[in-house]
Amino acid sequence: MFGELHAHGILPVSVPGSMVERDQRRWRVEDWNARRDLYPTVDLWQECLGDNWPMDAHTLSVMLDRPQPWAKHFVVRDGKTNTLLGFAATYAIQAGAVEDRYVIGSLACLMVLPSRRNLGIGLSLHDHVMKFLKTGVDPTLRQAQLGSIFPRFFPGLPTNIPRRQQAWFRHRGWKLPPAGQGTCSDVYCDLATFKVPVEVMRPHQEAGVTFRPCTTEEFDKVMEFETANLTKYPGWIEAHQALKDTDHVGDLMIAVDKDGHYLASAIAYSPMENNPIARLLPWPRLIGTHLSPSNLMSGDKVGGVTCIGVSQDISMPGLGLGLLCGAIEQLKLRGVTSCFVDWVHCRPHPY
Ligand SMILES: CC(C)(COP(=O)(O)OP(=O)(O)OC[C@H]1O[C@@H](n2cnc3c(N)ncnc32)[C@H](O)[C@@H]1OP(=O)(O)O)[C@@H](O)C(=O)NCCC(=O)NCCS
Repeated sequence: MFGELHAHGILPVSVPGSMVERDQRRWRVEDWNARRDLYPTVDLWQECLGDNWPMDAHTLSVMLDRPQPWAKHFVVRDGKTNTLLGFAATYAIQAGAVEDRYVIGSLACLMVLPSRRNLGIGLSLHDHVMKFLKTGVDPTLRQAQLGSIFPRFFPGLPTNIPRRQQAWFRHRGWKLPPAGQGTCSDVYCDLATFKVPVEVMRPHQEAGVTFRPCTTEEFDKVMEFETANLTKYPGWIEAHQALKDTDHVGDLMIAVDKDGHYLASAIAYSPMENNPIARLLPWPRLIGTHLSPSNLMSGDKVGGVTCIGVSQDISMPGLGLGLLCGAIEQLKLRGVTSCFVDWVHCRPHPY
C-alpha cells in the first residue's frame, strides 16, 4: 500500500547517517628483517610500483638496511604461507638549528600486494607505523611526513599513483596539496646532447663569478657558509660533512665571486665513485640499469646534482641555474653521460 520502502539503517540498529564502527580486521605487523625479507620486498615492490619505479635487490638493500631507529621497517605476512603481503618503510632525520634540534619522522613507503588489498593490511601497517613514529623514534620528534628527505624514494606521495590510492592517504589524515600545487619533480637529462646555454652563464661571467669544485683546504670555510645559510634544510649539513668523512670534497661545487666570497654550492656525484649521497637516492643508479624504462638510456653512466643552495644574502637571478650548469660541465669531464636532479621546484626552463 506504501510502495517499495528501502531501509536506511543497518543492524544492529543505528541512527541513519551516523558513523558506524566497522569490524576492522587487524593484521599482525612484524619488524622487517633484511636477511629474511629483502628479496620478498623487492618482489612486492616490483608488483606494486615496478612499472614506474623499477627496483633491484642491491639498491633496495642499500636504502633499507640502515641503523635503527633512523631506519625501521615493518611487514605483514600471510599467517599460513608466510608470503609477504605488505611493507612499510620509515626513516627519521634530524632538523633545526644547533640550539634547537628536533626529529622529523617519515612514512617513506607503504605498499600492499594488489591481490590482497582492501582487507585492512594497509591500515594495520599505517597504524603501527604512526604509533612507532610517535613513541619509538625519539622524544624530540615534532613532525611526521609522508615521503622522506634522506634517504628518499619519494619526497611525498607520487602524483601518478591512482586517485583512489591518493584518497586512501587523505582518509588517514594526510594533507595532500591540490593537484598541480606544492608538487616537485625529479628531472633527468641526456648529457650527450646537452649544451650549457650561453645566456645562462653570460651574466655570471660578466660579474666575475666562477663555478668550481671545492678544495680540501677550503672545505671548513665552505662549511661555515653552509651552516650560516642552509642549516634549515634537514640533512643538509650531515650530507656535506659526509663528503669530508668519505674523501669526496671534490664533489662539492661552489660559486665564488671575484672577491672570493662563497655564493652558492651544490653536490655533483658520479655513479663510478662511492659518494655517500648516491646511497641516499636510488634512482640515478637504477636509471643506468637494464631495469630502466625504455625511454631512458640503459647502461648510461648516470650522475646527479643535488643540494643546490644559494646564499640568502644575495640577489643574483639565475645563480642556482648557473651553478647547476657548472656542475654538469664537471660531471661531463668525469665521463658521466646523463644527469639526475632531484626535488626540483622551479618551472621547466626554456633552454
Ligand atoms: C594504498 C595502499 C597501501 C592501501 O592498502 P590496503 O591494504 O588496500 O588498504 P586497506 O585495506 O587497509 O584500506 C582500503 C579501504 O578499505 C577500508 N577497509 C579496510 N578494512 C576494512 C573492513 N574490515 N571493513 C570495511 N572496510 C575496510 C579502508 O577503510 C579503506 O577505505 P578508505 O580509504 O575509504 O577508508 C595500497 O593500495 C597500495 O599498496 N598501493 C600501491 C602502493 C602505493 O602507491 N603506495 C604509496 C606510495 S609508496
